Amino acid sequence: MCRIFRMIIRTQRLQPICPIEGRFGARSQAEIPLRALQFKRGLLHEFRKGNATKEQIRLHNLVQQLPKAIIIGVRKGGTRALLEMLNLHPAVVKASQEIHFFDNDENYAKGIEWYRKKMPFSYPQQITIEKSPAYFITEEVPERIYKMNSSIKLLIIVREPTTRAISDYTQVLEGKERKNKTYYKFEKLAIDSNTCEVNTKYKAVRTSIYTKHLERWLKYFPIEQFHIVDGDRLITEPLPELQLVEKFLNLPPRISQYNLYFNATRGFYCLRFNIVFNKCLAGSKGRIHPEVDPSVITKLRKFFHPFNQKFYQITGRTLNWP
Ligand code: A3P
Repeated sequence: MCRIFRMIIRTQRLQPICPIEGRFGARSQAEIPLRALQFKRGLLHEFRKGNATKEQIRLHNLVQQLPKAIIIGVRKGGTRALLEMLNLHPAVVKASQEIHFFDNDENYAKGIEWYRKKMPFSYPQQITIEKSPAYFITEEVPERIYKMNSSIKLLIIVREPTTRAISDYTQVLEGKERKNKTYYKFEKLAIDSNTCEVNTKYKAVRTSIYTKHLERWLKYFPIEQFHIVDGDRLITEPLPELQLVEKFLNLPPRISQYNLYFNATRGFYCLRFNIVFNKCLAGSKGRIHPEVDPSVITKLRKFFHPFNQKFYQITGRTLNWP
């Protein structure tokens, strides 16, 4: 009995994950089978590590495709979590590194083929997604992306602006501390000591004025090409946010509660790809923020309020920030 059971298991394990040639043939994204998920993690992972031969790539009909969607920002909004969570979808393949093609003049000068070669291998029916949060705030980027693909889908993940600014500050602070350097307190940077008003020259403040940046993008792309992800909700309740993104990207709903589990030690949701493979984001995601003077927080929230209202109005997504 026991032997038979072992044999069944062994037979199942020995089954090829999927036939090779023409596996996805003329299928649409909607038909990509769930099994592609396991396939993606196993085989594509090897390819990405550089363990694939050219013959394997040819046999599997793998290609390096320009992204069909880009997470353009916002820095500290939860861009990494969003990318990793979308990568749970069998039809999505992520570019693991931030490529900084459109915001970095030196990279941009290398041309679009250079950019494409930075993309991971994928099946033609899969979509590639990259994230580089600097895109959102860099002047030249909308026009450059438009020139590559005027119908590209653009994802923006935002958090309550004051919290985002503090998160931004915390990241810089940690970098300074690592180099044994001292740094100003958040309050000193965020408030102009001469006027006692919010210091709009401080980058962490400027980045949180989402509407100002979005307006620049709207000179090139219609609002329908953007999807706003609520980064605060992605922390507490990721699945509904991901389901909205699946819809926006015209993907069949494949990410489920099974793929996301709350890790009490981390204090965040982590990712479950399958029975053997799961992961949490790196420790640099989810830092403890320094305490900030409540009067400064109130001042900042009051400052951001009218910009937030405009952002809700433009995007049609009301986020009820204080
Ligand atoms: P904090 O470090 O301020 O908590 P980005 O990837 O754009 O740099 O964003 C980092 C933020 O992602 C973190 O900010 C964290 O709150 C948020 N985040 C959202 N979901 C997360 C998850 N599942 N695990 C870790 N961090 C997550």
